[in-house]
Amino acid sequence: MKKYFILTALCLAAVFQPSRADEGMWLPVLISQRIEDMQAHGFRLTAEDVYSVNQASLKDAVVLFGSGCTGEIVSNNGLLFTNHHCGYSQIQQHSSVEHDYLRDGFWAMSRREELPNPGLTVSFLERMDEVTDQVLKGYVPSMSEAQRDSLVKVNGDAIVRQVANPDKGIRARVEALYYANQYFLFVYKVYRDVRLVGAPPSSIGKFGGDTDNWMWPRHTGDFSVFRIYADKNNEPADYSEDNIPYTPKRFFTVSRAGVKEGDFTFVYGCPGSTQEYVASDAVRYVGEVSDPEKIALRTLRLDILRKYMEQDQAVRIQYSSKYANISNAWKKWQGEAKGIARLKTVAAKDDYERRFSAWAAGTAYEGLPERLHGLYAQRNPVYRAYEYYTETVRTVELLQFANQVKTALDAGRPVGELAESFFKDYYQPIDKEIFVAMLEAFDRKMAPGYKPAFFTEQLASYGSVAAWRDALFSRSLFTDQKRVSALTKEDLAAVTADPAFALYDAFYQWYRSELQPVITDLDREIRLAYRDYMRGQMAFETDKAFYPDANLTLRVAYGHVAGYSPSDAVYYSPVSTLTGIMEKDNPEIFDYDIPQVLRDIYAQGGHEAQPVCFLATNHTSGGNSGSPVINADGQLIGINFDRVWEGTMSDIVFDPDYCRNISLDIRYLLFVMREIGHADWLFDEMVFAD
Ligand code: ARG
Ligand code: GLU
Repeated sequence: MKKYFILTALCLAAVFQPSRADEGMWLPVLISQRIEDMQAHGFRLTAEDVYSVNQASLKDAVVLFGSGCTGEIVSNNGLLFTNHHCGYSQIQQHSSVEHDYLRDGFWAMSRREELPNPGLTVSFLERMDEVTDQVLKGYVPSMSEAQRDSLVKVNGDAIVRQVANPDKGIRARVEALYYANQYFLFVYKVYRDVRLVGAPPSSIGKFGGDTDNWMWPRHTGDFSVFRIYADKNNEPADYSEDNIPYTPKRFFTVSRAGVKEGDFTFVYGCPGSTQEYVASDAVRYVGEVSDPEKIALRTLRLDILRKYMEQDQAVRIQYSSKYANISNAWKKWQGEAKGIARLKTVAAKDDYERRFSAWAAGTAYEGLPERLHGLYAQRNPVYRAYEYYTETVRTVELLQFANQVKTALDAGRPVGELAESFFKDYYQPIDKEIFVAMLEAFDRKMAPGYKPAFFTEQLASYGSVAAWRDALFSRSLFTDQKRVSALTKEDLAAVTADPAFALYDAFYQWYRSELQPVITDLDREIRLAYRDYMRGQMAFETDKAFYPDANLTLRVAYGHVAGYSPSDAVYYSPVSTLTGIMEKDNPEIFDYDIPQVLRDIYAQGGHEAQPVCFLATNHTSGGNSGSPVINADGQLIGINFDRVWEGTMSDIVFDPDYCRNISLDIRYLLFVMREIGHADWLFDEMVFAD
């Protein structure tokens, strides 16, 4: 009786309790397979509302912004929101000493004041269709992997040619999903007149800087505002004064009702890359070798940068963007390695592989984990050498610059501007210290078999990396802006013989001849094994819903607003407020020095509880920056911009207890837009749900 009762209870639980949401980046076209679960978690719209090719749907209000971020349409006149860090280079390009929009922010007060951005595009997904059969037409199992690759390319190109129409801005791509077990055609309409409408000052849009990056509590007003323009037929066009605001098929209604713990959240955007189905050896390499070693190398570099940046304001400005780039992945890897260790992902995968192998004996999937194991044993040491090369030798600015100049001269391009922009942000004492730290690390960490012969020989002849560095920097012409600017094609012999270019090139040739071919061959084998292993995992776990790894295509991630506990006895609640900004405010600390106007507004009272950011359990990745965060009714409640560092292993393994995405609360955007930007005119074109 008791037993019967427990069984019934379990069955009921299975029926009435929705699966734990959170994990997963689902394909919009297949959302009907998830819609019941989404609705069980609170979503009130239908699959057709999310994605449809027959009627306007939410997907028509989401764009790939540039080539690595997401954006959303918020008015019938093509108004678009994305992150401040996604629009950063555009804001920077319009800035000068007279009007420093990065520092002070920018707000167009009418459409005429909106600023064009040559080169910037936004891509609307028109549709996605499975094309596996067409792509694999003519495939026979006896084909080699290289033959299959070229067949896929030929068939894929033919499919793309059929639909692409560059004159109309229609681009198409065939993408492999599930390790090329499936292929999808993605058709995009690309608009190329995208204008800057507004941005907060960096002290709001980048508040917290690298100190708070990947962290909670967070108070960054990470947004910027653009507008898409079209020709008079609403079609993509080059910039022209005659263009008119784009009329979207669909735009987001904005909700000001706010969020609370437990509320349904849906992130609609373009995550860049994840690897959820890899073998234990791949995870072991990331968690125990690659991440820790790259973190250590970047710590050395960041320490050097910080030492000089703290001494000199001009150097701080020169290197702040470089510092941000180096530290962004550095911090992410720390969370990733820690998360993999905490979750014992390697052991869990080892165990999974043992069970898989037992199950697979005698089937077409027999021996796959073992095969991957063998391949990784060959690949990892070579790949490690490649990573050391990119994280050491390739980080010396002078060597990179020498190569850029050589490339420009080869192509017959003038190098004056290149030299100017390089030297504007170059501080030689930093580079000299990095040269020594990085080449010494390379020497120390690479086993003899993985060090190029010329490197060992030259190092021996100089006696030390420092002596080598001194000789190179004193002899190289690339340390002298005037001499570089005067170079022409006639000087190519001198450029090729220059010690900075010679060192860059010797390492590059070594990489091309010793590392790259091995890695390429093994990667092809590994991909092939994964294609079978992926199908094997699906056959092994028939009741699990598999989502394809991210590849910068549009995905649906749903979850709910939630805090988390990063460590024993600590709990983070999920909503931050303006009061937290005031607590951090400090004119002495660059990252926390807010604009005076914000202090004044706060001092007036009444804004203490103004929400700023919130946490949720959506499964996101790099590329989801700028993605709309949507409530149960499909209304815009936030803009995704980050994850918490304790959860960044979600690119490999998702943990519902730690993985949180960080979003800007849309009400903070509205607050900044009105109170600081005084851009009231933009409110008139938005539609509010409440
Ligand atoms: N961590 C976020 C991302 O991966 C934001 C990076 C930009 N912000 C910064 N402080 N560096 O893109
Ligand atoms: N900031 C990231 C981006 O630019 C999003 C954070 C993440 O990796 O989830 O895409």
